[in-house]
Amino acid sequence: MATTTETVTAAAPLALKLSQRPKNADGSALYPDFLPHYDPLEKVDDLGYFEHIDVGHRADPTFPNLLKNATKVYDLSPNVGTEIEGVQLSQLSPEGLDELALLAAQRGGLVFRNQDFIGIGLEEQKKVVAHFGPLHVHGWAPHPAAGSPEHMIIYDHKEDLRVRRSWKGRSPVQWHSDQTPEPQPPGVTFIGMLESPAAAGGDTLMSSSVAAYRSLSPRFRKRLEGLTAIHSNNDGVKQELKNGDNAVMRRQELIQEHPVVIVHPVTKEKALFVNPVYTKRIVGFDEEESDYLLKFLFDHIAKRQDFQCRIRYEAGTVLVWDQRVTNHSQTLDYPAGDRRHAFRLTSLANKPIPALIEEDDGECAKDLGRVQLGLC
Ligand SMILES: [Fe+2]
Repeated sequence: MATTTETVTAAAPLALKLSQRPKNADGSALYPDFLPHYDPLEKVDDLGYFEHIDVGHRADPTFPNLLKNATKVYDLSPNVGTEIEGVQLSQLSPEGLDELALLAAQRGGLVFRNQDFIGIGLEEQKKVVAHFGPLHVHGWAPHPAAGSPEHMIIYDHKEDLRVRRSWKGRSPVQWHSDQTPEPQPPGVTFIGMLESPAAAGGDTLMSSSVAAYRSLSPRFRKRLEGLTAIHSNNDGVKQELKNGDNAVMRRQELIQEHPVVIVHPVTKEKALFVNPVYTKRIVGFDEEESDYLLKFLFDHIAKRQDFQCRIRYEAGTVLVWDQRVTNHSQTLDYPAGDRRHAFRLTSLANKPIPALIEEDDGECAKDLGRVQLGLC
């Protein structure tokens, strides 16, 4: 049999042209007015107790004002995250904002793209978010040079590695709900993305704390009833003080005791309310017992991708989420030196409401997976 020798040449690789996100050609920031400003002398008083009436209570549950211009609404995952196209947050009426609060409480996180909200100015932006509650001022994070300490600037770039340095030698993926050591921690929160890393990355990971609670066995849930935990921001304070004379410490260190399982005031859903960034120990447990339980709960939040989603941004994307029913984490996965730039406006909400847990409180019946397997 005749044999032939074939020369196999590898096909020329297709030129893979990745679409790039907007950048200025000279490398300058797309939104210089939002560059971070650090003032080590700045001081801000704590807000103190305030009555919080959640605007979600008065929302129409059919969302006629929020969704009247929506062209597409789709869930990012079954348990958390919904993306809404065709809606400009800046154009929402007070009734539309009430509905936004309700939908954020139900879905955890809501993603809106191409938002002119980014360009309406600091005061107008604050007016929108203050609809949900008094605005939080961070203890040390920067704000724009023009002022507005309520605008927390999120910035990572080769000219300002302050945030990236703070994660040196440890994982930047840290699940948390923002500012839980506050006596009345945050509720509805906005991130406005100003500039994303060029190709990909800088996503936010988000996890449903309602699904985290509901996925526990009824007997384990019952074991959590009545437990409280200490939340403290002392790790963050220590980290900030490493900046020496440039450290910003505009507020006192925060420490607070909160229930381990809370109830959302509007949806009445129960949610697991611990996180590895701020929750230090279970009150009344010995140290080893507390460490053991918290380690399980933190692993449960981090590992259960079945109640997580991932939010990708471009300049103009706004994420609106309810901190009481979610945990989130940054990713910091893009090349060091690339610019990621955003602002956060955070409304404060109610004092966390402890959940009463019956062994058969109907929660198990909401989980079809458990019902089908006879686990209730
Ligand atoms: Fe955060």
